Amino acid sequence: MSYKIAIIGATGLVGQKILQVLTERQVPISELYLAASDASAGKEITYQSQSYTLQKVSEVLQARPQIALFSAGSGPSLEWAPKFAAAGCWVIDNSSAWRMYDTVALVVPEINAHTISLNHKIIANPNCSTIQMVMALYNAHRTHHIARIVVSTYQSVTGTGNRAVLQLMNERKGHYDGYKIYPHEIDLNVLPQVDIFLNDGYTKEEHKLIQETQKILECPELAITATAVRVPVMGGHSESVNVQFKSPISEVELRTIISNTTGCVVFDDPQQNQYPMPITAHENDTVWVGRIRKDPSALYAFNLWIVSDNLRKGAATNAVQIAEYLIQKQFLISN
Ligand SMILES: NC(=O)c1ccc[n+]([C@@H]2O[C@H](COP(=O)([O-])OP(=O)(O)OC[C@H]3O[C@@H](n4cnc5c(N)ncnc54)[C@H](OP(=O)(O)O)[C@@H]3O)[C@@H](O)[C@H]2O)c1
Repeated sequence: MSYKIAIIGATGLVGQKILQVLTERQVPISELYLAASDASAGKEITYQSQSYTLQKVSEVLQARPQIALFSAGSGPSLEWAPKFAAAGCWVIDNSSAWRMYDTVALVVPEINAHTISLNHKIIANPNCSTIQMVMALYNAHRTHHIARIVVSTYQSVTGTGNRAVLQLMNERKGHYDGYKIYPHEIDLNVLPQVDIFLNDGYTKEEHKLIQETQKILECPELAITATAVRVPVMGGHSESVNVQFKSPISEVELRTIISNTTGCVVFDDPQQNQYPMPITAHENDTVWVGRIRKDPSALYAFNLWIVSDNLRKGAATNAVQIAEYLIQKQFLISN
């Protein structure tokens, strides 16, 4: 069997990575439909040595794909995802538009694919920072119940898309006067702001990390606070996480649980200067965990350093894994 698949946002960093991951994982595609903004319609994209013409989203809808992977931002997702779903197409959405709707499954396949319902064809891919943190913590949460998380992120510019990479590259060439996606220079700088500020002084990204973690871990009362920071890095997002458990757990137990978690690797030999970095995670799907150490200031508490490629497990790979799950469960209808 092979399937009719669409990518909405195919020219973007995530859309391009989805194409790469579909090839790597040999997802069987009978027909591929690619869309971006109307301004890109008619342009060509090469995929597996074949040329594809970018279509308008409305044209892709008419082709009635079985799965549409959206990575075009919240506006297009809000407008088009319900129309694709109404046409019988499964939507896997990388934007934040649908994540917190009660009826929408927010899925990391290793953790909660079971929340996908045949009745709701829009599935949300979580925020990249959320995915890598819950991947590292969910198994320990199941056995020892997390009491509190304090997370600070160090997020790659690739998390803001094509134009952010352009800003960084321009600044590296000494061009500071061009288009800026960030409110400040990013090269040789650190911005304690990811996404917009809300009335409570937190950013939208920090709210996403908090609420999405509570939803995925099915723990709405989980105490969690976040500071999200943008750094002039390309390869992936890093996170400093302080986690406290409700029941006794040793450092050895925590290391063992994370080591045994599919998709996670403990890479932690400080005496040899071995710890995960964005260059460790770049272009692979692993969630890397290091600097695991007991926090003596609180009961059953630990500090961890978690790194993953935001464009892969944080976006494209997670979305393709969801598509593979739908295929494996035979949830697709023939259009
Ligand atoms: N980057 C990450 O690490 C990451 C991780 C998780 C989730 N996400 C989410 O994924 C989405 C895409 O991110 P990105 O980094 O790939 O951004 P990007 O590089 O800026 O790409 C945006 C894509 O959306 C398309 N687009 C813009 N307006 C559109 C419209 N009205 N209709 C259809 N397509 C439209 C663009 O097409 P044109 O080329 O024609 O402008 C482009 O293909 C965002 O919602 C983002 O929050 C990103």
